[in-house]
Amino acid sequence: MAEVDSRPAAHKFDIKPIIKEKLSSASTRSRPAFQPDTHLAYREAPKVLGMKDIGLPEDVGISPIAISEPFPLFTEEAVNIMRGEIFTNEVWENCMHSTEFAGCQLRGHCPKYAPFMYDAWTNPKTLAIVSKIAGIDLIPMIDIDIGNINVSVQEPLKNPGKLVNQSNDDIPVTKWHVDSYPFVCVVMMSDASQMIGGETAVKTGSGEIIKVRGPQMGSAVVLQGRHITHQALAAVGGAERITMITSFRPRDPLVPDSSVLTSIRPISDHSELYFQWTEYRVEVLQGRLQIMLDMLREHHRAGNPTDVAKIKEFLKQQEEWLSCTNKEIVPV
Ligand SMILES: [Fe+2]
Repeated sequence: MAEVDSRPAAHKFDIKPIIKEKLSSASTRSRPAFQPDTHLAYREAPKVLGMKDIGLPEDVGISPIAISEPFPLFTEEAVNIMRGEIFTNEVWENCMHSTEFAGCQLRGHCPKYAPFMYDAWTNPKTLAIVSKIAGIDLIPMIDIDIGNINVSVQEPLKNPGKLVNQSNDDIPVTKWHVDSYPFVCVVMMSDASQMIGGETAVKTGSGEIIKVRGPQMGSAVVLQGRHITHQALAAVGGAERITMITSFRPRDPLVPDSSVLTSIRPISDHSELYFQWTEYRVEVLQGRLQIMLDMLREHHRAGNPTDVAKIKEFLKQQEEWLSCTNKEIVPV
């Protein structure tokens, strides 16, 4: 996430995750299959804020939708199966990342260690729900950013008085930022019924701050994070707070996609990240070239003159695409 503010974030102070479950070995657990009819709790479309509603131009992003209200997505049973998948020795030994931005993150466990979670996010019915709310057809970004887990605790804060907040009781857990990827869907994985706070704060075009309430267990919020400056606010109450974040990109290769790896690079295994990044970038380019080739041939066969300006514009876009693809790969 490209930071736009240098204010301190609360989570950099003592992070000691309190997890109810004991870690188990993945091999000792049963492996239930994701069943959309059983494991999806979605009923009706939530209220959404449009880009216009927060004072931003509708064409600044890839969809007119900015952020949704929380809505039920996964059943409690599904959340518990997912929790079982991530609370294993294998995941905590191989997938834990700790940075100043987020003290405790689990990444890269899908699909190897968390096949149920992977199937849940790649199921066509789940994608249809997220896409409908986002106002654009979406698919998961890359596997590494499916089911990213953030573990945070609220206490203790050594010096909460030093934090610069919008109001007396708002403590940011992230700095103001935009995400690296077009859309995110954030799901609450803990019992949040006793939690106060935990909202997402969003900055409007005129600099005002709007707060969208945090989700309850199994519920989700969809956010066009690449184009909206936002921050997560701390929650108090509840022993643990675990959120699951999956990132999305447009399914249609022709839709502009300004993804970068700014916030992803420091918290990822580089070999895996650069494989997945290159695979996705080349696949999109392949899709674009095929569409272009089909159009070009059809146009030519119909006896039309070659549209040189259009070809040059298309080629320029692909040059920029490849240039960005290459620039984001930073050898260590
Ligand atoms: Fe974000």
